[in-house]
Amino acid sequence: MDEPQEINGTRRGLLIAGAVGATAAALPAGAHAQTPGASASQAASTPAPVTARVALRVNGQRYEKDVDTRTTLLDLLREHLQLTGTKKGCDQGQCGACTVIADGRRINSCLSLALMHEGSDVTTIEGLGTPDRLHPLQAAFVKHDGYQCGYCTPGQICSAAAMLEEVKQGIPSHVTGDLNARPLLSPMEMRERMSGNICRCGAYSNIMDAIGEVAGAKSAGGEA
Ligand code: FES
Ligand code: FES
Repeated sequence: MDEPQEINGTRRGLLIAGAVGATAAALPAGAHAQTPGASASQAASTPAPVTARVALRVNGQRYEKDVDTRTTLLDLLREHLQLTGTKKGCDQGQCGACTVIADGRRINSCLSLALMHEGSDVTTIEGLGTPDRLHPLQAAFVKHDGYQCGYCTPGQICSAAAMLEEVKQGIPSHVTGDLNARPLLSPMEMRERMSGNICRCGAYSNIMDAIGEVAGAKSAGGEA
């Protein structure tokens, strides 16, 4: 009965010794010289993150938070204010999942530092509507099945809400033909203006139908 245990013990010992050896071999040359106390003193000498206070309004409510100066607006919303409706997709400005409206303009909150929004008025998906009182765009997305997994949806809706305002204000896009005329929300205009919001599920046609309905456009092909 003792023999198998002894064999197992020996094999375990060999495996541990092998793993230690492999790890040691993989370490950079300087790391071998470190003493056990070195990492503790190294940690003690690492400077604490620099923090600063930011005060802003989100969905009509005032917040004041001390944050690491490197905190993005997206992380402030999600991690500090627990407003997790705004999604983190790529965290590098490529997908639009993190779109919120700051002082009336849509932005990628992953690309913006929280401290840049001192005194800002930010609207997230939670501030556009509630389950009982949906924003017209939220209701249209439900009606037209403008989502599948829903991960891009908060960003799509915030982006669309601000985009419709941009059109109302006469702000042209890259595909606007006549820069002096009031822009019309043609399907091409709508696609161009929403091109910063990626949907991995490919629900684009339904998203366009939903936005088109709210814009009063005939999404099947006509202009607004
Ligand atoms: S998470 Fe900000 S653009 Fe993708
Ligand atoms: S609905 Fe899934 S990513 Fe758009």
